[in-house]
Amino acid sequence: MYVQRHPSAQADVDPEKKTIVVLGSGWASTSFLKDIDTDHYNVVVVSPRNYFLFTPLLPSCTVGTIDIRSLVEPTRFIARHKSRTVKVVEAECTHIDPETKSITITDNSDVKGQNAVSTLSYDYLIIGVGAMSATFGIKGVEEYGCFLKEVWDAQKIRTKLMDCIETAAFPNQSSEEVDRLLHMVVVGGGPTGIEYAAELHDFLVDDLASWYPELAGKVKITLVEALPNVLPAFSKHLIEYTESTFKEQNIAIHTKTMVKEVREKEIEVKRPDGSIDTIPYGLLVWATGNTARPLIKDLMQKFPETQQVRRGLAVDDWLRLDGSEDIYALGDATATRYAPTAQVAAQQGKYLARLFKQLAVRDELESELADATEEEKVRKDRKLRKAKDIKPFHYSHQGSLCYVGSDKAVADLPFGPGGNLATGGVATFAFWRSAYISNLFSTRNRALVITDWLKKTALGRDISRE
Ligand code: FAD
Ligand code: NAI
Repeated sequence: MYVQRHPSAQADVDPEKKTIVVLGSGWASTSFLKDIDTDHYNVVVVSPRNYFLFTPLLPSCTVGTIDIRSLVEPTRFIARHKSRTVKVVEAECTHIDPETKSITITDNSDVKGQNAVSTLSYDYLIIGVGAMSATFGIKGVEEYGCFLKEVWDAQKIRTKLMDCIETAAFPNQSSEEVDRLLHMVVVGGGPTGIEYAAELHDFLVDDLASWYPELAGKVKITLVEALPNVLPAFSKHLIEYTESTFKEQNIAIHTKTMVKEVREKEIEVKRPDGSIDTIPYGLLVWATGNTARPLIKDLMQKFPETQQVRRGLAVDDWLRLDGSEDIYALGDATATRYAPTAQVAAQQGKYLARLFKQLAVRDELESELADATEEEKVRKDRKLRKAKDIKPFHYSHQGSLCYVGSDKAVADLPFGPGGNLATGGVATFAFWRSAYISNLFSTRNRALVITDWLKKTALGRDISRE
């Protein structure tokens, strides 16, 4: 849909129409933007990054299986294909004022003009700002750990990984220091940690073994998880499959082990028997889930009666912020009964676009009713009742997938009424790939990702430290 090089002309912003301000350009906001009918609204998108990122394949970027450019889609491409001009502002929303129905936006990028702070008014506000990586206040995580959430995180991991390897190759390094530098530690056995460890293993076996024959055998991968097992949200059989696959791949898993502190070259952990131990590392990837952004925490304080869940914004079944008439929230920024996944965020975005279309029809009918004849009134009244009957959000789970290394993946798929199909292996990996290819937003991204996979198979991954 978005491959068209020369999109057609767009209608101008219409001061008569209501303005929807959308915060964020991730899964939730982008899926809303794709579906919102701009015939009915003016739309403004505010996000500190001017692109959508396909997060499911981000772990592949940390070792160069996929190029980052293949996973991003400029928000302006999507905006430019709407029927009415959509304003895209690269800025962070730093304050929301529900009283005046306005937001403060700040340009936090490196290049700033004379003006870097401004305000925008809204009729409706859609909050899709996602969440931040959680640290649980553990000392040293921010300073020494690498998160895996954004494009720059993947770039940082890749650079640091190659730096560790080249530093280990520096002449006369002690064997103890070589072991430390080549120890790659992943904290968090959720899908992010598992997929990262799996990609790192593949890079080690497929590429590093050829280019660093004297070092590759010394590289160790360790995954640390506080719970008794990894992938707690997956079926028992798939947890066992993942753990045994990791064992075959020489990835050590330390379960029931809680990281207590991160220092420059080692982490301090509490072992299952309660003892305190240290683990030296060269690269530390921190993947312990999500926490709410400061903007969200700040907004919650404005609704002390209705916003009391620390995890995120409380919304009703129509995704309207509890306590507000005109603010809606979706995706990882919210605290709902659903897991914080792209699947949920994307379905919520689509749903909200439909809801807004229905609201527009309702508003139009209400204004027409005032001048309608008695006969018209009966007909319009019926239509109005239908427009007012807005169905609540319903989530349809399509299954959970996770790459576990060596061209194997695990999948928990809904099967029949209330049933579940748990499958793991090479065939599941083929399914994993095809599912992600079909979920990519544009033909351009699909073509680029397929090319990256072919390039990796034919030529191997690049080992330059960028
Ligand atoms: P995001 O996609 O994080 O988007 C948030 C947006 O808000 C961003 O554009 C951000 O720049 C912007 N923003 C931030 N602060 C502000 C602000 N103050 N003002 C304005 N804009 C702001 N889920 C799955 O279902 N399947 C998967 O395979 C999967 N794989 C994943 C792999 C990784 C490595 C990660 C990190 C996550 C994965 N997820 C997966 C989870 C999924 O990415 C998230 O649930 C999803 O991104 C949530 O969408 P969102 O729109 O709420 O937030
Ligand atoms: P997560 O919340 O799923 O897992 C984090 C893990 O870190 C937990 O198992 C937790 O016990 C562990 N942990 C927390 N503190 C710790 C500590 N101090 N020491 C050791 N372990 C600690 O987080 P993740 O993997 O980042 O995923 C976030 C969301 O994104 C989830 O909803 C997930 O389903 C989704 N996602 C889905 C993917 C997929 O479907 N393939 C891939 C990546 C993310």
